[in-house]
Amino acid sequence: MKKEIDGEIYEVPRHVAVILDGNGRWAKKRFMPRNFGHKAGASAVEQACEDVWNLGIEYFTVYAFSTENWKRSVEEVTGIMNLLRDYLVDSIERSNRNNMKVHIIGDRTRLADDINVAIDKLEAATSQNTGLKFTIALNYGGRDEIRRATQDIVKEVQEGKLSVDDITEDVISAHLDTRDLPDPDLLIRTSGEIRTSNFLPWQIAYSEFYFTDVLWPDFKRENFIDAIKYYNGRDRRYGGVK
Ligand code: FPP
Repeated sequence: MKKEIDGEIYEVPRHVAVILDGNGRWAKKRFMPRNFGHKAGASAVEQACEDVWNLGIEYFTVYAFSTENWKRSVEEVTGIMNLLRDYLVDSIERSNRNNMKVHIIGDRTRLADDINVAIDKLEAATSQNTGLKFTIALNYGGRDEIRRATQDIVKEVQEGKLSVDDITEDVISAHLDTRDLPDPDLLIRTSGEIRTSNFLPWQIAYSEFYFTDVLWPDFKRENFIDAIKYYNGRDRRYGGVK
């Protein structure tokens, strides 16, 4: 979609995915505990949902908790889970006010029962909204997602619902957690790390990558605009020649 931002016309990416990174360092710089940074990170996510929608982005996906994040201290994991609990509950009213449709991806089997109940409620309460499609990756790992999709595909083959020759790339995409989303056009990672850390590995095959030193809690509307400007400087060829 073309959109005027600060007096210039830009092609706005339809789907932006973000690896939220740097909450811990943001807190450390303030001599505060890591969970203080995660709280600021969660507030930044709320603001970002409004900003990206106003910039013309239709799909926004964030990496909130990876399958590897369980290795952090019990204190930190408990803090993040409590933050998510509050977020999921508070989010119903705010999402409806902003016409936002919320969806959670990842392996939900390891999440606490009350978190799963809160996810079901939030998804059901916002399912009819027609604004931003906001996806939160929770206990998500890209390889794990492909493993789960493979199991589902093999089961369908065993049950005679699918033949081996019919396993196309589209069939694989349709068995991933992201089956209802277009692939990300732009992947952003904050806080200076230049890696994708098992986030949407299948889906980002043709995405543009924007890496920035800005720590996630400091990432604001202007930073999204910088990322969109960067995206406009790229020439997407999908392996072809223009
Ligand atoms: C990255 O910073 C953050 C996380 C791994 C998880 C926590 C994310 C949030 C609390 C955002 C909440 C999202 C929602 C949807 C409520 P880090 O701890 O890796 O930072 P560091 O690299 O500076 O240590």
